Amino acid sequence: MRELELTPRLMAIADQVPQGAKLADVGTDHAYLPVYLLLRDRIQSAVASDVNEGPLQRGRETARTYGVPGEKIAFRICDGLAGVEAYEADTVAICGMGGELISRILGAAPWTKEALLLLQPMSSQPELRQWLMANGYTIGREQVVKEGEKYYVILTVTGGASEHYTPAELFVGRQREGEDNPHRGAYLTDQIRRRERALAGMKQGTPDPETLAREEALLQGLKDMEKEWKAWQR
Ligand SMILES: C[S@@+](CC[C@H](N)C(=O)[O-])C[C@H]1O[C@@H](n2cnc3c(N)ncnc32)[C@H](O)[C@@H]1O
Repeated sequence: MRELELTPRLMAIADQVPQGAKLADVGTDHAYLPVYLLLRDRIQSAVASDVNEGPLQRGRETARTYGVPGEKIAFRICDGLAGVEAYEADTVAICGMGGELISRILGAAPWTKEALLLLQPMSSQPELRQWLMANGYTIGREQVVKEGEKYYVILTVTGGASEHYTPAELFVGRQREGEDNPHRGAYLTDQIRRRERALAGMKQGTPDPETLAREEALLQGLKDMEKEWKAWQR
């Protein structure tokens, strides 16, 4: 049987799970993340949850195929963390879902402020960052991962007070001098191109002046961040 391999996105998440963790993988689908970590003795146990039966069946199949013992991984059908108790997880991964769904799941499980959270939103990143900061979480690392032509961002989050973020930081995350984040520069350039296209499209119509000014300020903020990032790489 072939070894279970993870894609770069899931591998980057796996790399951030602490040795010996009790992992909850929310929206587990194939359960690749917990099975990979259990096979390498990287975690002591896992709860793999999903709101749909089909994905959960696929997860059970992965565990069976790779011979993961039943006492190491529990499969739960539930909305978010509704079927997971705080004592079962010190690390929670919520990956491959929209940012607003991720905030709803965390909002319904306040015990997650005591856990290490690995979040990989597919959309609504500014809204997710804003929600985290307004609800007693603090964002540590923001790692950019490239898979194919797409960029993904992994947020490492714990409970705690947050500093104020600018609109551009809410959009692409805070950057820190010296951080190990090889795809960050290309990601910033990609986001700037997208905002430029959106702005050009907006200008072809009759945009509301306030919205236009906000978009222009955001674009300028992103350009300033790109400039700062480039200066740090010299
Ligand atoms: C795109 S897959 C992501 C799978 C895996 N986490 C990954 O990142 O590769 C999203 C999964 O989240 C599940 N899901 C959607 N809403 C959910 C919710 N409210 N609670 C738990 N799981 C949910 C879906 O059924 C699906 O299996």
